[in-house]
Parts: sequence; structure tokens; C-alpha cells
Amino acid sequence: MDDRVIIFDTTLRDGEQSPGASMTPAEKLRFAHALDELGVDVMEAGFPITSPDDFRAVKEIARSVRRPIIAALARTRQKDIERAAEAVEGAAHPRIHTFIATSKVHLERKLKISEEECLEQAAEAVERARRYTDDVEFSAEDATRTDLSFLCTVAEVAVNAGATTINIPDTVGYTHPREVAEIFQTLRREVPALEGVVLSAHCHNDLGLATANSLAAVEAGARQVECTVNGIGERAGNAALEEVVMTIKVRKDLFDVTTGIHTHKIHPTSRLLTQITGIHPQPNKAIVGKNAFAHEAGIHQDGMLKERSTYEIMDPAMVGVPGSRLVLGKHSGRHALKARFQELGFEMDEDAMERAYRLFKLLADQKKDILDEDLLSILHHGAMKDIPVTFGLERMTGQFGGEWSHAQVTVTRKDEGEVEAAGKGDGPIAAAFAAVNEVVGWDVELEDFAIRAATPGRDAVGEVTLRARVAGKTFTGRGGSTDVVDAAVRAYLDALNKAAHAQQLEEDAVQRAAELKGI
Ligand code: KIV
Ligand code: ZN
Repeated sequence: MDDRVIIFDTTLRDGEQSPGASMTPAEKLRFAHALDELGVDVMEAGFPITSPDDFRAVKEIARSVRRPIIAALARTRQKDIERAAEAVEGAAHPRIHTFIATSKVHLERKLKISEEECLEQAAEAVERARRYTDDVEFSAEDATRTDLSFLCTVAEVAVNAGATTINIPDTVGYTHPREVAEIFQTLRREVPALEGVVLSAHCHNDLGLATANSLAAVEAGARQVECTVNGIGERAGNAALEEVVMTIKVRKDLFDVTTGIHTHKIHPTSRLLTQITGIHPQPNKAIVGKNAFAHEAGIHQDGMLKERSTYEIMDPAMVGVPGSRLVLGKHSGRHALKARFQELGFEMDEDAMERAYRLFKLLADQKKDILDEDLLSILHHGAMKDIPVTFGLERMTGQFGGEWSHAQVTVTRKDEGEVEAAGKGDGPIAAAFAAVNEVVGWDVELEDFAIRAATPGRDAVGEVTLRARVAGKTFTGRGGSTDVVDAAVRAYLDALNKAAHAQQLEEDAVQRAAELKGI
């Protein structure tokens, strides 16, 4: 039976220390529930002494998230520990996580204390924390730059004082995987007191080594990994939960350990974090980046269509991504184009395919990503250029603010005249889109949404670009206005007009085919 690696998520604490990633207590609670569903074993809910908001957030999470261990961070100071204890006292499984720096530079320059004082403070803090809970974690901040024999002494002192987990942070992301392995092996060999105690790795990503270092620690005996969703965190971030977990899963031939993460929840959890913080993972970010399962090169697309494992090491569904995207662009070949047409419901004979491919290549020279609407346009010889206006915006009013925003729109529907509808949503744009959906009556999924100022100054024109998915096809929309809600609705209607036109073209094609067959 494989050992279990405890996944300790610190998105709500170290992750929240990312520039611009701060969350309100309500957002933290929402994300904590998502982490629970993801299956994390421990979640570090915050650092309660730092602010009343952080204290409240930890307390609320402790009260309402009952399955995982809820940890609260504290320096070795008495007040920190008492505040952390108070915050997690209502938890089903409370943990106090106390830390003190142990490296020479931190002791001499930051804390201005001796090694003996450091040991005393560590022991005292752990003993104090144990008065409140049996689950106490001790971290030696900057452990990986600490003299190794002193680190062994610190670990021994903390365990003797009652620590049940010893965490070894690579606080400044400086260490190489070989050194990490050496540190963990030495601790296990030289500190018999660590028998039965969980050794933990906490790696930062300043040299891009956080995942490699966490895995090196696991290979050397660590049984807890501290990480964050999307790898957010101080400076270059922390080890990314999704990378650590998926490496262990995909390369199970190399690891004799498992995790309790429900991997199909990785993608939705990542998306939720992005939604809450507004921080998008870089497009090429492993596992959760928007291109992580996109294949553009022609040879890759051809291989993927013949046998997925030629270029795909994990099924995107394993991490909750609906399907890998073949992004059509100038490197795409005939096979990929034909496959996408088939997905869109068009079977083409060789001549038609050849014509479509020539047009596709011409377009791909001018445009980076070719969307479904472009393909439909190719199919119908550039017919998308002047799309008829099926839905036109006449008026929009709204009451914005409070928990819900409300919007009323008047839209002219081709052949039907003016139609009025109301909608509500989490913000004015969501409310206006909900009202438009009422008029249109379709299921519309917003895939991408961006606002930018198209002109300088206070009265700048806001330009909205978006991608909307309707009936399995993606359409772009663009709209501009000095009022961003107005710009957003215009962009939305632009995409929906393209969708309406595409539907009309398809119906015409089916009709023509039927006529030809004499049905
Ligand atoms: O990076 C670090 O050293 C930390 C500790 C507080 C665990 O985040
Ligand atoms: Zn950290």
C-alpha cells in the first residue's frame, strides 16, 4: 500500500501574500469550501494576528469547513499563539502552525537573537500551542539556508516540545533539488525523535524549482507538501498544488505515494481562484494555463487526432478540463481542419475540403487564432463579413450596487420588433447579460472577457472583447463605448449576432442538401 502525502494548501495564507491577491473574508470562505471539495488534507486559513479580517476569516472557515484540518499561522510570540488558538478553537480538526527563522542571516540581522534564544522560543511556542491542540506544526523559516546541524537541533527541540509536524521551508526559493534531498535525508538519519513525526516541505519558486524541490523532498521522506493553487504566493509564488499532485499521479511509476486530491476538481478550483483574485495563470502554465492542453503545430495536431498519447501525457478530463483544444492557426494541417469541421457538424468531400483549406491558409496568415465563426465563414465564402443584425440594442437601464445588480434591456429582434427583458446578476455587466439572455433564449457560456481603454483620459472609450460559446461553437464579440456596461452588451450582442447568422447558414446548408437529394 502506497504512503499518503498530506496536501497542505496555503493559498489562503501564503498565496494571499501574492501582490494583488488579497481576498475578503467571504471570498476566503467560498474558496475554503472549494478546497474542501478538492480534497486537501490541511488548509492554512490565515495568519490571525495580522488583522481582524484575517482572524474572522479563519474563525468562520474553522466553524463551517469540517472535514480537513484547519491551520492558523503564528509567530512564536505568546499573543500570536493565543490569537491563532482562538481562531481555530471551533474547528473539527484544529492545527496551530508556529514558526521562527533559524538561518544565521535571519537570526543575526532580522531577529537579533542567538541560536540558544531561538531554541528557547521555539520550544516555548510549541509547548504553549499544545495547550490548545494536539496538532502543532513547527516551521524553521529559511530552513534550507540554515546550518544543517543547527537545523537538526531545532527539529529535535521542537519535537520534544510536542510538535507533530516539522516543516522545512525553502523560504527564498534558493535551494536545488539535490540539496533538498540531502537536508531531508540528514534530518531523518540524525534526529531519531523525528520517527513518527510528519516531515513537511514548503518551497518557494524564485528559481522556478518549487515543484522539483517539493518532489525531491517527497522522495527523501517528506510526507506533507505545502503548496498553493496556481502556484500563487510571495514573490514568484509557492509550489503549485496541481503540479505536485499531477506529477505524483501521472508518474506513479516513480513515486510510491498517493494524494487524496480529487484531480478532476483542479481546473474548476483554479478558475475560481482566478475569478476571485483576478490573477490569471500564465497561458503556458502547466496543468491550469489556458494553453496547457492546446495543440497548435500541424504535426502535433495530426498525431493527436490519430492517437492522443503521441502528444498528451494526461487526459485533460483528469484535471477537469472539458477537452483538449486543437487551436487552429497557420501551423494546422488538413487533418485538424477536417476534424474541426466534423465536430461542427460538416462532412466535406475532398474538393470542398481542398477549397476550404486554401481559404483557411490565407486567413491564417492574417489572423493568429482561427475560431469556429471563421471556419463557418470560410465554408460560406467569407459570408461573415457583414453579419445581419438579428439582435440590436435599443435601450438599457439598471440599478447597480448592493448584493445584486438589476438591468432592463430593450432589444430589437429581427422580425419581432422590440422586446424588453430584465435580468439580475453579480454586478452590472452580469445583470445586463442575464437580461439579454432572456431576450435571446439561448444557453450562452462566456469563455473570455476583457476590457481595455481604447483611448486615453477620463472619458476613455472602453473596448470590450469577449468570446461566447453558443451550441458548441465559439464566437467573438467586440463593442466600444464610454460606458463599459454599454460596451460589454454591444460586444455580447455582436457575438450573438454571429451565432444567429451561423445558425442561419447551417439551416440553409441543410435545406440545400435536402433539396439536392430531392427530400
Ligand atoms: O516561506 C516560509 O518560510 C513560510 C513560513 C511561515 C512557513 O511561509
Ligand atoms: Zn512561504
